[in-house]
Amino acid sequence: MSNRAQWGTRAGFILAAVGSAIGLGNIWRFPYVAYENGGGAFFLPYLVALFTAGIPILILEFTIGHKYRGSSPLTFARLNKKAEWVGWMQVLISFGIATYYAVIIGWAMSYSIFSFNLKWGDETGGFLMGDYLKVGDVGPAGSFVPGVVIPLIIVWVIVLGILFKGIKKGIEVANKIFIPTLVVLFLIIVIRALTLEGATTGLNAFFKPDWSQLGNASVWTAAYTQIFFSLSICFAIMITYSSYLPRKSDINNNAFITGLSNSGFELLAGIGVFSALGFLAVSTQSEVADVAASGVGLAFAVFPQIINQMPFLNELFGFLFFASLVLAGLSSLVSICETYIAAFQEKFNISRTKAVAIGGGLSALISLIYATEGGVHFLTLVDQYVLVVGVGLAGLFEVIIIAWGLKKVKELQQYNNSLSDIKIGAWWVICLTVITPLLLGYMMVKQLIDDFTAPFIDGYPLSLVIPWGWVPFALTLVGGIVFATLKWKSAEALETNKSEEVSS
Ligand code: PFF
Repeated sequence: MSNRAQWGTRAGFILAAVGSAIGLGNIWRFPYVAYENGGGAFFLPYLVALFTAGIPILILEFTIGHKYRGSSPLTFARLNKKAEWVGWMQVLISFGIATYYAVIIGWAMSYSIFSFNLKWGDETGGFLMGDYLKVGDVGPAGSFVPGVVIPLIIVWVIVLGILFKGIKKGIEVANKIFIPTLVVLFLIIVIRALTLEGATTGLNAFFKPDWSQLGNASVWTAAYTQIFFSLSICFAIMITYSSYLPRKSDINNNAFITGLSNSGFELLAGIGVFSALGFLAVSTQSEVADVAASGVGLAFAVFPQIINQMPFLNELFGFLFFASLVLAGLSSLVSICETYIAAFQEKFNISRTKAVAIGGGLSALISLIYATEGGVHFLTLVDQYVLVVGVGLAGLFEVIIIAWGLKKVKELQQYNNSLSDIKIGAWWVICLTVITPLLLGYMMVKQLIDDFTAPFIDGYPLSLVIPWGWVPFALTLVGGIVFATLKWKSAEALETNKSEEVSS
């Protein structure tokens, strides 16, 4: 495909990759995961995970995306037709994640407006679940919640609008605006949080090392999981994004810049979040441990409390915080949608506009399920199974197939080194062929045993876990295999590669 879309500039590609990596995972997941798993001591397993799995896989994905120039399914098919299903599995997982990630960005959008009059009142948890989300019984969907449907529609209009415009004029331009803005907003938040009374109490709690935790296998698993999620690897995203790189592009430098920027932002978020938590603990005379939280609880229940307690400019701080979540979320959502748009476009040989309309439209429609009274329960389960189980397994299949099945690591290493300033050596080969498969394999076996033997997941009965957890997960696997058996509508899809490889 000689007329394949391309990034306009190197900075454009890096900003898009960093934009995908920096998301809700950095802001609401990392600080608590670090705090819970050894505080300052967590940085050791975190850095080990970054350098033995995160950056090596990022390099792998940038390399294959660049070499085979396709969406994840086309890249895998060009590696070997029998491996195409892994690409589809990743794409379908991304499709599933996009449907609920959009809803969370919608919540953040509502909350950035609520900040103007601190609409959540004093009972922030009650406001979130009752007044705003109108959470109903576990099981039925109930009716739509207009307060969620409206921002959700706005999110999709923005995201699909960006995607319609294409790679250079849409995704690249959006990230060039979103990411610098996000960094500036977030720096203001962190500086403000650091100057609040009690900030040092929070930071002490965050950084205090508990070295004894390092003997705990679950701490290491937490570090690897965080790195995988945070770097957006094994989601098909980085393969798709790097397929739009011009032929002459440095791979390794780009991967290091992306990986280190993401971790830098993660550290910044940890400092900001824990300074603010320290302030809340001191001003309500409680312990940091009592106020610390992650995920939805941290962003939509604890942060509103922090905002309530601030001495002045509460509204502005609130707005900046939620606007940051929106920006970080949008750039990640765009990246995850691009995976299936590119895949549909190539497989069915349709125009980009059609692929965005069908793929994007379908995910927007499905996302409405989570904008109902029962939606939060569905969201929690799909998140656990499609994301935690699905992405982990897809990553495991990716490294095993490439490193062991197709034995491609050496060839990819040569290709990569011929393009990059920093050359990769034995470190990369060992990480991909030994360390990552073994560690991911261990993690996934343990995860599956835990999930299979638990009668209740997060308090949910099996009658809900099966349709909203295991079925969506199984659909990504079965669907992956089914899509892989369908014919490529463009006859040259698999052929083009051969000529491109020869000419490259
Ligand atoms: N790296 C993203 C994050 O940290 O939030 C992970 C991600 C989630 C990417 C959802 C894309 C996405 F749609």
